[in-house]
Amino acid sequence: MNQKLIEIDDLTVKFNTPDGAVTAVNGLSFALERGQTFGIVGESGSGKSQSMLALMGLLAANGRAGGRALFNGEDLLSMPASRLNRIRGNRIAMIFQDPMTSLNPYLTVERQMTEVLELHKGLTRRSALSLAIQTLEQVRIPDAARRIRMYPHEFSGGMRQRIMIAMALLCQPDLLIADEPTTALDVTVQAQTMALLRELQRDFGTAIILITHDLGVVAGLCDQVMVLYGGRIMEQGSAEHVFYRPTHPYTLGLLGAVPKLDHEGERLVAIPGVPPNMARLPAGCPFSERCPLANERCVTERPPLVAVAGQDAAVLRACHRDIAEVARQAEAVLS
Ligand SMILES: Nc1ncnc2c1ncn2[C@@H]1O[C@H](COP(=O)(O)OP(=O)(O)O)[C@@H](O)[C@H]1O
Ligand SMILES: [Mg+2]
Repeated sequence: MNQKLIEIDDLTVKFNTPDGAVTAVNGLSFALERGQTFGIVGESGSGKSQSMLALMGLLAANGRAGGRALFNGEDLLSMPASRLNRIRGNRIAMIFQDPMTSLNPYLTVERQMTEVLELHKGLTRRSALSLAIQTLEQVRIPDAARRIRMYPHEFSGGMRQRIMIAMALLCQPDLLIADEPTTALDVTVQAQTMALLRELQRDFGTAIILITHDLGVVAGLCDQVMVLYGGRIMEQGSAEHVFYRPTHPYTLGLLGAVPKLDHEGERLVAIPGVPPNMARLPAGCPFSERCPLANERCVTERPPLVAVAGQDAAVLRACHRDIAEVARQAEAVLS
């Protein structure tokens, strides 16, 4: 049977706040097969991190997740905490923008890596050490057998990022959730880290959920992409489709904010305005306040997420405007 690795159905995240309930994530559905990469793209505050923290059972105390998230057929959202703890860090690993949030500054890299293996895999100290060194070598830490005795602060930012990736891969997880893993790095190290993830995926067959605000990052790595705004899906489909034939004005806006390779350093226009206040979303399309194509209907009536007819793969969009109109706009932005 062709069971998906992870199957998310109508995921919502609500927070209780002094101003009332805030729905930070609303109706996300997607599935991921083994070894595939799924990209979640959107500006800051669009609900990317909270949707993943919900899967891991790591929401803040005032947060509640709804919907279903089947991992190998088991619902992460309703399983006992003890079961989720076993899956987390073992079958599912997560890496963050800032390695210092995952690495303990007071312990050597050796201690941190061998502890995980002794705990989750029941290895002896000795075999844990040799596997840890081997994994550091896989993420290209030079002289790993010596350096493993160092503390996190003794490494450069790029190397710390690789150590964090090595830690995440130690238990050979089925799924790696990477939340803006390269945002804090300079462009060269960013590219190296992405190339490394791609290689590791090829060697280990790990599925990856890659979160980023930079649509350019997903193009080379992801099979499927979801574009989020105001906690909702604006557009979803193959990376190829979303990148080259976008059907949503918000995706166009994000593409406009991607640096052009042939004009070094030059950025096209960013999307004017700021992301919405989640406690006061517009009644219609969440993006309507900033959308260059928005009309009366967009402001008052929320567009449903529907399949785009005549597409080779399933493409979904939530937009009242004609695809032809968006395509004309796309020509102006992307030419
Ligand atoms: N503890 C909390 N209480 C209330 N609202 C929260 C809390 N944590 C996050 N949020 C809301 O969730 C929204 C989405 O956040 P997040 O998923 O972190 O965005 P991003 O796409 O940048 O990762 C934020 O805009 C914020 O309004
Ligand atoms: Mg985030």
